[in-house]
Amino acid sequence: MKPLDIEVFQCRSDNYGVLVHDPETGLTAAIDAPEEQPILDAADRRGWTITHIFTTHHHTDHVEANLALKERYGLEITGPINEAVAIPGLDRTVGDGDEFLFGDHPVRIIETPGHTAGHICYHFPEDKLLFAADTLFALGCGRLLERSAQDMWHSLQKLAALRDETAVYFGHEYTLTNARFALSIDPDNVRLQARARDIETARAEGRFTIPTTIAIEKETNPFLRVNDPAIRRNLLMENRTSEEVFAEIRKRKDNF
Ligand SMILES: [Fe+2]
Repeated sequence: MKPLDIEVFQCRSDNYGVLVHDPETGLTAAIDAPEEQPILDAADRRGWTITHIFTTHHHTDHVEANLALKERYGLEITGPINEAVAIPGLDRTVGDGDEFLFGDHPVRIIETPGHTAGHICYHFPEDKLLFAADTLFALGCGRLLERSAQDMWHSLQKLAALRDETAVYFGHEYTLTNARFALSIDPDNVRLQARARDIETARAEGRFTIPTTIAIEKETNPFLRVNDPAIRRNLLMENRTSEEVFAEIRKRKDNF
């Protein structure tokens, strides 16, 4: 099985567009459809014809180009069963644990309620790829717009359980702000300090911070580190539950 080819590009102000291409079958999936023109440009640049959209959740900045791309390519749109009514042009619904093939590449759906009620992530276990959209960001996680902190905490645990080397593609370039916030929660974490320096440089040079990995996030992302003793000490929450510590960190980020 040849490795999948991935093209990442900016859409709107801070969304990432992602195309996943299977060189063996010629299939190409857009992970969400934030904005038509940058997606068309990316496909043209690579000489790919888009055959699928894999929708993660119903927010406009993830589905806005669904119908335009469908009209142009006649492609198939897959999306979360629990948000089906809100996703334009949906052809196929999927839910937690569902599996299908993209060419010969297995894809598994991980439902991650929190940011929205029905948000899903697309996991390619054999390729060690995760498309996490607005659930897990580099050094951050999505805002809790439709579900509780407890729900999001459990969703993030599912992602943290994936193999360390899994490459994580996320939905927004929020990494610089996330790094500054992470340092306010976990200031003595040497790996975080080094990563934050790299991110300051990367963003100053206009470079993307995508993808990250599960291992890197477990070492540096405060939302995955709520059981770290130093973080709990800093928050004066040494005897609280994981969900309570997570909720506190999320609240602080909302006000950062
Ligand atoms: Fe969103």
